[in-house]
Amino acid sequence: MRSLGADHVVDYTKEDFTEGDQTYDVIFDTVGKSSFSASMRSLKQGGVHVLGGFGLSQLVRGLLISIFGKKKVTGWVARERKQDLISLKNLIEAGRIGSVIDRRYPLESIVEAHRYAEQGHKKGNVAITIEHDDSAQQHAASDGSSSEPPSRR
Ligand SMILES: NC(=O)c1ccc[n+]([C@@H]2O[C@H](COP(=O)([O-])OP(=O)(O)OC[C@H]3O[C@@H](n4cnc5c(N)ncnc54)[C@H](OP(=O)(O)O)[C@@H]3O)[C@@H](O)[C@H]2O)c1
Repeated sequence: MRSLGADHVVDYTKEDFTEGDQTYDVIFDTVGKSSFSASMRSLKQGGVHVLGGFGLSQLVRGLLISIFGKKKVTGWVARERKQDLISLKNLIEAGRIGSVIDRRYPLESIVEAHRYAEQGHKKGNVAITIEHDDSAQQHAASDGSSSEPPSRR
């Protein structure tokens, strides 16, 4: 986490960030495993609790708190849009954000990749690599036949 730019890191296996008097402007629960009530208590007045993963109960409680309280709860589900991926690619190439890749699997091993990811302990992301098929592209170019667009790594 420090290598990604965090100034202060709390190891959740050793310390519960909701215990003690420290309060926060923003709590972003990226894995959806923190207690909702405890997180709300650790939020400053006017603070925002962002939910990466949420259920119906959190959604309803969050809505009521946001309407009637002085704290806000928000969350969203990412849409898989090409323009968003291009924006991310540009930010990565500009060095403005980084990513952590835990493991890479070829497309043929996608079942194994899912099994690993579903254990819930991946560090960052699991990537699927797709080989660029030069021979298919050359063949299509030389005989003028149409083919599926080649996949890219
Ligand atoms: N809103 C959206 O659009 C969206 C999109 C994708 C996913 N999600 C949701 O995001 C959540 C996370 O999914 P994911 O696949 O990225 O991650 P994941 O595989 O569920 O999370 C794994 C990581 O979380 C750490 N972790 C587990 N409990 C933690 C805790 N209490 N505090 C801090 N870290 C903890 C694990 O560390 P250890 O190995 O040490 O346990 C591991 O590094 C899921 O609930 C998923 O539904 C939402």
